[in-house]
Amino acid sequence: MSKDVIVACDFSSAEKTYEFLDKFTDVKPFVKIGMELFYSAGPEIVKEIKKRGHKIFLDLKLHDIPNTVKKSMSVLSGLDVDICNLHAAGGIDMMKAAVEGLTREDGTRPLLIAVTQLTSINQEKMENELLIEKNLADVVMQYAYNAKIAGLDGVVCSPLEAGKVHEKCGDEFLTVTPGIRYADGNIGDQQRVTDPAKAREIGSDYIVVGRPITAAEDPVASYKRVVKDFIG
Ligand code: C5P
Repeated sequence: MSKDVIVACDFSSAEKTYEFLDKFTDVKPFVKIGMELFYSAGPEIVKEIKKRGHKIFLDLKLHDIPNTVKKSMSVLSGLDVDICNLHAAGGIDMMKAAVEGLTREDGTRPLLIAVTQLTSINQEKMENELLIEKNLADVVMQYAYNAKIAGLDGVVCSPLEAGKVHEKCGDEFLTVTPGIRYADGNIGDQQRVTDPAKAREIGSDYIVVGRPITAAEDPVASYKRVVKDFIG
């Protein structure tokens, strides 16, 4: 299983994103484009970043009826990104429809992963607001298993859950994990965090790192430190 560090480019405009990426002269990091950037800069930025030689995780977290998700995935498939995602909460039929929509005529498709429970949801919110009276960890595992049954390639989860997901769904089932922080860094709004070396030990396949790189004084040096600690 190839491991990589994905840099979350959570910028509000194409200009700010290019200004950031231009700092990387000798490496081409795997880049995550989220809703903020996609909604402000559109599909063009995906094409441009791809043209510059980066791999792309398009983090749009689709969640709708199966037919709508299928058709939307078919459009995203044309952007030639490397990873797309959706919410496992949309159900197995929706996830199967997404795989169909994403698959191109020649049988190829980007990797497709599912968000299980957002890391902003805790046990109390899940029970009191969503009326799911189960253990949060069990819900995450069930959603991961549903994603596997639907034919997806993996899940987005906390690095602390990566080992258990592999136990339940197999070593080949990808775990893509945000929530990466160094002990000497600011955790910000993330709750369940760990550092790159520990994430590697627990079994994350890809780590998604935003502010520890994007807000660093020297983003390239920070990126290289993360890569060294995660990949070796
Ligand atoms: O800046 P930071 O390292 O916290 O960025 C983490 C990235 O991962 C952000 O782009 C955030 O949207 C994303 N993410 C997350 N938790 C999830 C899913 C995605 O932090 N459950």
